[in-house]
Amino acid sequence: MARSITVVAPSSTANLGPGFDVFGLALDAFFDEVTLTKKITKNVSIQTGDDIPTNPDKNTAGLVVKNMMKKFNIKDGIEIKIKKNVPAGYGMGSSAASAAAAAVAFDKLYRLKLDGNLLVECAGVGEKASAGAIHYDNVAASVLGGFVIVRTNPLDIIKIDPPANLRMVIGVPHLKVPKKKTKVSRGVIPKKINFTDSILNLSNASAIVAGFMNKDSELIGKSIKDVIVEPARKQLIPGFSKVKENALKAGALGVTISGAGPSVIAFSNSSGNLKKISRAISKGFISAKIQSQTIICKPSIGASIKK
Ligand code: HSE
Repeated sequence: MARSITVVAPSSTANLGPGFDVFGLALDAFFDEVTLTKKITKNVSIQTGDDIPTNPDKNTAGLVVKNMMKKFNIKDGIEIKIKKNVPAGYGMGSSAASAAAAAVAFDKLYRLKLDGNLLVECAGVGEKASAGAIHYDNVAASVLGGFVIVRTNPLDIIKIDPPANLRMVIGVPHLKVPKKKTKVSRGVIPKKINFTDSILNLSNASAIVAGFMNKDSELIGKSIKDVIVEPARKQLIPGFSKVKENALKAGALGVTISGAGPSVIAFSNSSGNLKKISRAISKGFISAKIQSQTIICKPSIGASIKK
């Protein structure tokens, strides 16, 4: 059996508009890297050059590993080496990427051969550390890749391969984000919603699924419409309305908040207009005096062993 293994896991976008806590899409924008090494000393330790907790009980990958050791009765010492590349706190599934890489690495290191649902469940334990509540949309995408639909009680993930021409532009505003950002942005979501709004969101969510099934990027993009969560959360993102208006004018098919924000994500079915959409997003943020970075990306295949 190998003594050490390295897994990379991608960034992801959650919700895709109307699919709050249900939809996720793996993005090849950034990858976190986790190396697990068996040690003779009987403890779990974390090595990293990045600004993240090194106490395994406060670190997403640490929590995943400790939980899996308990669940599968493994008593080795393990060193977890983490290279974080997914920017934390911007709505690109940063904590999920480390958690996903840790779960997949553990599965491979101990040859557990867990199925997708179990791997996602194990990775989801890491999310609790950052969001305060377990939500599986980002980890499911990061573990399995592609587009995912999360059903809970019992956990059941449906994965659909995205259309080959689907492209995204992410706009990352240079804002100072609160430490428990996901918790904060979950706090502004309405407790009660109108029945008509739920019908609108359900119709668009259904159309997004049909778009992925039929490999129809235009249908996916045009159905990225959320009348429940986006209106509540956009107040936390200066310039959001202008960014959205600009990106749509530049040819984006749909625009929404990426996960819990503050990044914004625009969808397109052509590589031809991505630079124009990027510029439009940057200008939108500048109208609110916010600098930003844009990233052009496509769906990712999910976590994999680093060769
Ligand atoms: N679905 C979660 C939320 C994703 O929007 O709060 C957080 O990354």
